[in-house]
Amino acid sequence: MTTITGSAPTVAAATPPALPIQISAPTLRVRPAVLTDAANIYALIADYANRGTLLPRSLAEVCENVRDFVVVEKPEEAGAEARAEFLGCGALHLYGPHLAEVRSIAVWPASKGLGAGRLLMDGLFAEAERHSVHCICLFTRIPDFFARQGFSVANKEELPDKLLKDCLRCPKLDCCDEITMIRGPLPGFAMLDRDEPDAQKLVRITG
Ligand SMILES: CC(C)(COP(=O)(O)OP(=O)(O)OC[C@H]1O[C@@H](n2cnc3c(N)ncnc32)[C@H](O)[C@@H]1OP(=O)(O)O)[C@@H](O)C(=O)NCCC(=O)NCCS
Repeated sequence: MTTITGSAPTVAAATPPALPIQISAPTLRVRPAVLTDAANIYALIADYANRGTLLPRSLAEVCENVRDFVVVEKPEEAGAEARAEFLGCGALHLYGPHLAEVRSIAVWPASKGLGAGRLLMDGLFAEAERHSVHCICLFTRIPDFFARQGFSVANKEELPDKLLKDCLRCPKLDCCDEITMIRGPLPGFAMLDRDEPDAQKLVRITG
């Protein structure tokens, strides 16, 4: 198991077992999600989706994509019987070797401001590095948080894979209120098929 240390002082990474990445702060830990995290992830995303902050995801969708997620938790104290407390989650969707996207990042309101969001980002950066992906994008209404994590504002037209995968099917296509941000060099190519019928709409957006 590779243990990666975040900027904060580390604690011994004795639990949980056999996960490829684990980053620890004095009281919090981020690690790749496993299927048993799916119910917690689903409940958190549903809560923010009900407030209109995140896109909803079904439990089936979370289970199917659980390997995209990392979770942040408060580890159980040594000798205590209580299980680690789930605080938040985030996902890294892989488009290909040129591009990944941060999605569904959230921390329960009661646990905001403790550094959990930053730990989640560190976990997602570690995942991107593990896959040798150097450009990460995201779409957000809170750009200041992500600017602190090294992201800068970009044009979504520079990310045709995102346009083809999601934007062209989005009801907010012509009135998108999210800010596009990237971290790392813009990809020089796209993976998705520009000859699909939907791709013709790209002409309208980018032209
Ligand atoms: C965004 C979110 C994940 C941040 O989690 P968090 O645990 O409170 O963040 P942290 O405590 O790690 O904060 C890290 C830094 O970001 C800053 N920050 C936190 N939330 C911020 C916000 N909404 N806007 C700007 N800066 C923010 C903190 O002040 C801190 O700054 P510092 O580095 O100067 O100390 C959390 O507020 C959340 O779940 N929001 C609702 C869901 C959401 O909007 N997700 C983003 C969808 S794109």
